[in-house]
Amino acid sequence: MFKLAPSLLAADFWNLGPQVEEVVRAGAEVMHIDVMDGHFVPNLTMGPGTVVKTLKKHCAGLDNPPILDVHLMVTDPDFFVQPFADAGADWISFHIEAAAHAHRVCQKIKAAGCQSGVAINPGTPISSLEAIIEDVDFVLVMSVNPGFGGQKFIDHTYRRLARLSALIDAADNKPFIQVDGGVGPGNIAQLVDAGMSVAVAGSSVFGRPSPGEAAAELISLARKES
Ligand code: DX5
Ligand code: ZN
Repeated sequence: MFKLAPSLLAADFWNLGPQVEEVVRAGAEVMHIDVMDGHFVPNLTMGPGTVVKTLKKHCAGLDNPPILDVHLMVTDPDFFVQPFADAGADWISFHIEAAAHAHRVCQKIKAAGCQSGVAINPGTPISSLEAIIEDVDFVLVMSVNPGFGGQKFIDHTYRRLARLSALIDAADNKPFIQVDGGVGPGNIAQLVDAGMSVAVAGSSVFGRPSPGEAAAELISLARKES
């Protein structure tokens, strides 16, 4: 079943709690947390002890606490898995480009009690996922170059999703597919048709005047309810 993962990167940090509550109440089941270390990408964002721990604590009081989805855009994912798991992450993804020991990172995520995901940049061949596909719970396909929100969706993502679906068809393991970057009302339904089951959406949710209404609209477009 499709899930929407609003990306906190685009949220109003002055107003973080109410914004999270608003999108969760509108039906968002996942909160996407972009972790950038200033090395793997040229930006710095959120850490375990601040944002993730706070979200875990306060979301516990909601009727439907969201899945906390940590996207590690860092050069040393091995180092960051445990602190984010301890802070309350439910899903953790790391970049295939950053992991010299992808299998070990993946096992570490699972041993910490989280679902493990592998993320892949637009310029990295889908074939580089062949060995790790049997071990991950999900694949995060970047549809922009990581580092910033609000970028334009890269169209060759559709071709990459077709390649990834073929790779998954041929594997014993069946990870779900998350797409991240430039996802909005104009492409969400087509992405679902191409195999996406979790959509990350930053500016198309928190960049809109009513994030709750924007989230509800995206969910209904993805589920083809209208
Ligand atoms: C980019 C991040 C994305 C970003 C998406 O490096 O991984 O999660 O927040 O933002 P939008 O939806 O605005 O492209
Ligand atoms: Zn992300």
